[in-house]
Amino acid sequence: MENSNKRIVLTGFMGVGKSTVARFLGYLLKCKTVDLDSVIEASEKRKIAEIIEADGITHFRKIETENLQKILCESDALIIALGGGAWTMEENRRIIKSNNLTSVWLESTFQHCWRNISMSKRVRPLARNKTQTRKLFDERQNFYCLADWHFVIKPELTSFEIARQIAEEMFSIEI
Ligand code: S3P
Repeated sequence: MENSNKRIVLTGFMGVGKSTVARFLGYLLKCKTVDLDSVIEASEKRKIAEIIEADGITHFRKIETENLQKILCESDALIIALGGGAWTMEENRRIIKSNNLTSVWLESTFQHCWRNISMSKRVRPLARNKTQTRKLFDERQNFYCLADWHFVIKPELTSFEIARQIAEEMFSIEI
């Protein structure tokens, strides 16, 4: 892959499509990808929703940071999909920057995220109610906009097309 030293993290609100875009990006760039939430579920042997519901969000954030740290030290994956809250934690942003990763915000409207959240089978404890989720979405814009790159997601684009656009614009790969 071109620019093979470039490692990126994908951030953005729940439902924006970070995990799917990361998978397609890995396919297009022929490189390894890793999904932080999946790593947490595998190491904890529990679903994210179970962890948050049983142990609370503070505990989840702690293991999220530990697993992020572990991935950055031990994995050779070039594309890392974060969970929607990971980038909002200052400690995580510091770790990501100090490991020289480029952060990419998949920026989209609340309507787009909410539609995907509502259609998904995944249980998201922080997105159970539309009004509260909208509030969280608004609060988080201030953190997401700290990312190095902002990709505005047009709702008509598929996750594959978004991945292709990122591959072309960030990695100069013609597809
Ligand atoms: C969270 C987002 C989730 C997951 C957890 C917390 C958040 O990931 O990490 O439920 O705080 O926004 P997705 O963004 O993949 O849904």
